[in-house]
Amino acid sequence: MVRRIGVLTGGGDCAGLNSAIKWVTKTATDPNLAYHSGQQLEVYGVREGWRGLIEVAPSDTDSMKKWITRLDELSVRTWDRQGGTILGSSRTNPFNPKIDKGGQCVENIKSLGLDALVAIGGEDTLSVAYRLYHDLGQKVVGIPKTIDRDLSGTDYTLGYDTALNVITEEVDRLRTTAGSHNRLFVVEVMGRHAGWLALEGGQAAGAHVILIPEYAFDVEKVAALLDKRRQAGVRYDIVVISEGAKIKGQEEVYLSDKVDSFGHKVLGGIGETLSKRLEELTGFETRHVVLSHIQRGGNPSARDRLMGRYFGIAAVDLILEEDFGRMVAYRDGQFTSVSLKQAIERLSLVEVGKHYDPDRYNGRRSSLLPFSRRGER
Ligand code: F6P
Repeated sequence: MVRRIGVLTGGGDCAGLNSAIKWVTKTATDPNLAYHSGQQLEVYGVREGWRGLIEVAPSDTDSMKKWITRLDELSVRTWDRQGGTILGSSRTNPFNPKIDKGGQCVENIKSLGLDALVAIGGEDTLSVAYRLYHDLGQKVVGIPKTIDRDLSGTDYTLGYDTALNVITEEVDRLRTTAGSHNRLFVVEVMGRHAGWLALEGGQAAGAHVILIPEYAFDVEKVAALLDKRRQAGVRYDIVVISEGAKIKGQEEVYLSDKVDSFGHKVLGGIGETLSKRLEELTGFETRHVVLSHIQRGGNPSARDRLMGRYFGIAAVDLILEEDFGRMVAYRDGQFTSVSLKQAIERLSLVEVGKHYDPDRYNGRRSSLLPFSRRGER
């Protein structure tokens, strides 16, 4: 029987994580649950993701204080309104052969007396969760989070809505200064290899051109689209570009060659490259802005607070059902769960044929009608 649950947040932070932690805690420690099921659960927060689980020395009081914190209804009371993760996060990968600490995690789970673990994370954190479950027999469940919204098996990942709102608000701000100076602004947004943030953020913000990683673009064509708009009398324009977008025939642009412990390089710089090329091609005064980590910051939107709540409750349901190796999910308007394997097997990317119009470099305008009736290919 499960008595002690551990909870951790791994990978890039985002809004909505604290709500999920709060609702894992509140649901697990609900006195009604104890009364009706006889299960008295305790919840322990592990600090800084997998790093905490590796670093903690359970027999050492100071180390326990540093890495593990007991959570209860009162301690998490106000957490859902706050951005980031109060437990802290890291990009530590216990299965990176350079450190090889998968076994250490299992030993510490045992010494801490954790009967089940809730891992809140994206592709990387959940791939560790999957290996702990599948290869090392640990009782793990996952909660999906990432502003990139690129996990399979779920239509929503925590942090996405807040990030979309940030993009919309920031572009609204840029719009006034762009208009005052007749300038073109290129706004680079996050998303790694998935174009969701750029596509939906760009549409919500009313960008004229949206460039995504799933469709390599032609700079001359972007310039022509913008030129046509000026000729039609529009004084300024906004281009939203995903950090992972590529110019046709070229590679992605990275900030450096350094890789993290999951083997990822940090994307960044395509906005600046494009901005310079567009100024040369169009003659319009052009500026670029990189929204960067601002997209992950700030208080969670109503949707992220709610989704954190519902995902947190569902994670405890999975534990009570002893249905391990699964990730809670939201699909087709329903809360459900999928296997961790399915969640990490492949990235969920923008389908160009379905969501993106490669002629306009923007979202599709066909919804219920076939594309051809609207002159889209
Ligand atoms: O995966 C979330 C994300 O914000 C990506 O969109 C971005 O490429 C990456 O993390 C940035 O990572 P870091 O916080 O390590 O710079």
